[in-house]
Amino acid sequence: MVKASYNQKPYRRSIMQTFGAAITPSPSMSTRAGKDILTVNPNDQGSLGCAISEAIELAVSTPNCKYTLGSVLNHVCLHQTIIGLEAEKQMALAGEYPDIVIACFGGGSNFSGIAYPFMRHNIQEGKKTRFIAAEPASCPKLTRGKFEYDFGDEAGLTPLLPMYTIGHTFKPATIHAGGLRYHGAGVIMSQLMKDGFMEAVDFDQTETFKAGVLFARSEGIIPAPESCHAIAATIQEALKCKETGEAKTILFNLSGHGFVDMAAYDQYFSGEMTNYRPTDEELAKYIASADALNK
Ligand SMILES: Cc1ncc(COP(=O)(O)O)c(C=O)c1O
Repeated sequence: MVKASYNQKPYRRSIMQTFGAAITPSPSMSTRAGKDILTVNPNDQGSLGCAISEAIELAVSTPNCKYTLGSVLNHVCLHQTIIGLEAEKQMALAGEYPDIVIACFGGGSNFSGIAYPFMRHNIQEGKKTRFIAAEPASCPKLTRGKFEYDFGDEAGLTPLLPMYTIGHTFKPATIHAGGLRYHGAGVIMSQLMKDGFMEAVDFDQTETFKAGVLFARSEGIIPAPESCHAIAATIQEALKCKETGEAKTILFNLSGHGFVDMAAYDQYFSGEMTNYRPTDEELAKYIASADALNK
């Protein structure tokens, strides 16, 4: 488990322990990749890219052990389209069709899941739905990243993938939307972004929690910090409609509940939550790790 999340989300650990798991914070000393990272910085808080490196290393060195990725890869995105196919049916029952589809964006699985089934109607039938990915300002691969070949993990164990990336060595700030702290975007979504089929926006984490709290008070559902990004983008689009007087149907994906993230809500309510936007210089330094692979 990424060390930052291990410390921020103790109940997620407890849930896994309930089902018999032993949990090690990543980077760990149990793999070469983890050791290398900790040798450079013993206080490294980890990243999804580093956890993937450790998981792959463990899988290839342990008999009968297989590694399966939860996001990013095309077959995962395809699998997730059940979300959009179901949403399409639910909207039809309500006599609606979305003008805008919104989801938060980590590696891209919940975004592609809700967007692809509607996007095919844009491509095949000329529908004009807009698709908006909402990402954290602290990990801006779609809004400030570069489209080029990069590794999917920090140690460089995966095949090279053409994607929007801020570099596989990127060290994300320890924000609460841990699932969005990934340096790259899925391959198909990256191509769709490059070709103008989708858009991306970014948000500071305090703005996303403000949106999440408003949603909870309106709907009675406490959203995951990741989902709060989609809610912030949805509110932004709804407010634009209010200004222009246009009526639009906006569909967004509520990717998870926030019950295991209440420590993050505590931090927001106490006013202790901070925002972080990497500078252009910081980003350029990390993107250079991908540039080096494209020479
Ligand atoms: C609740 C939630 N939403 C969204 C995401 C982002 O992942 P993806 O971009 O693959 O949907 C995560 C990742 O852990 C998550 O936990």
